[in-house]
Amino acid sequence: MNSVTGREVRLAKRPNGAPRPTDFEVVTVETPAPSAGQVLLKTRWISVDPMIRIAIDANPLGGGVKPLPIGAAPPGPAVAEVIASAHPDYKVGDIVQGRLGWRDHLLSDGAGLQRVDPGMAPLSHFLGVLGLPGFSAYVGLKVCGELGPGQTVLVSGAAGAVGSLFGPLAKLTGADVVGIASGEARCRALTETLSYDRAVDRAAPDFEARLAAAVPSGVDLYFENVGGPMFDQVLPLLNLHGRVTICGLMAQYVDDGEHPGPDRLPGVLERMMARGLTLRAFRNGDFPQLREPFLAEVGALLREGKLAIPEHVTEGIENVPAAFCRLFSDTVVGKSVVRV
Ligand SMILES: NC(=O)c1ccc[n+]([C@@H]2O[C@H](COP(=O)([O-])OP(=O)(O)OC[C@H]3O[C@@H](n4cnc5c(N)ncnc54)[C@H](OP(=O)(O)O)[C@@H]3O)[C@@H](O)[C@H]2O)c1
Repeated sequence: MNSVTGREVRLAKRPNGAPRPTDFEVVTVETPAPSAGQVLLKTRWISVDPMIRIAIDANPLGGGVKPLPIGAAPPGPAVAEVIASAHPDYKVGDIVQGRLGWRDHLLSDGAGLQRVDPGMAPLSHFLGVLGLPGFSAYVGLKVCGELGPGQTVLVSGAAGAVGSLFGPLAKLTGADVVGIASGEARCRALTETLSYDRAVDRAAPDFEARLAAAVPSGVDLYFENVGGPMFDQVLPLLNLHGRVTICGLMAQYVDDGEHPGPDRLPGVLERMMARGLTLRAFRNGDFPQLREPFLAEVGALLREGKLAIPEHVTEGIENVPAAFCRLFSDTVVGKSVVRV
């Protein structure tokens, strides 16, 4: 086999605030045929995820993470097909997933690859409901403690990739589940498609009043996907012994990390103490032992038709930057994926 000519999306410059397509460039690359112990992969689907905004920042998470170098391809998850193999464990036609990056071809020695059973679900689902966002929703449910009838669960970023599985999973416990999303269409999707009991439009001018009205018995669990000002708005609604599970801080990824303004921490701590609140954050990578049960349980729910899984599909690797930037501006419902 000869080398293949393909394309790769690279970071051209660091974004200032919300990312823009011009922060990236699409370049042509030559990928050689595999040597012994390697496979050549052809990407079928690429995932665009908010976490990439963390990776391309100049000072990711306040210095907690190393920034992606300029000129590198963002390490987004992808599903790919083996098109040539000199690796004993893989044959042509096998489907795999991993953090393969924003490129249409890749040589791999197999490290970090996970096999995908194409009979289980459409391939794009392995980037959404059966991929990292779905896994994050599942881990979030496991770490947030007992849920059930009589409890009110509030979810921010509810119409996004994580929220569109977390809400239905929380609903299956019998809890009362309320989602926050922006715009009427997304709020309708929450209640009509994603089994949320009620939805609150964060774009409404009277959002705070609507939020309070949507949780008349207060909030027992707040599943936080966005952070920023939303956290302050939800905090007063938490019940005695309420819990906050931090999955992500989407609203804070585009700030400069300086957090100007009055120090709100003493007020947060006082409220935590007065109400006996629990606040915990989690990273899905810390729970590899939950991967098998996740695939089994969520896979079964999919087979039984108990989950509606909205996806927003963009066509073509050249449109990966635009699809990624839309996460921070537009209002799509569910998981954003790019068909390559
Ligand atoms: N802990 C982990 O291991 C882990 C793993 C994967 C992802 N995450 C995190 O989980 C969160 C959700 O990820 P996702 O894949 O579901 O992302 P997503 O599909 O892009 O959805 C995120 C949602 O956040 C809302 N949002 C965006 N900007 C906002 C702002 N400035 N203020 C308030 N809401 C805003 C948007 O909904 P509306 O506009 O409709 O409100 C959007 O649908 C992210 O913070 C991500 O980093 C964590």
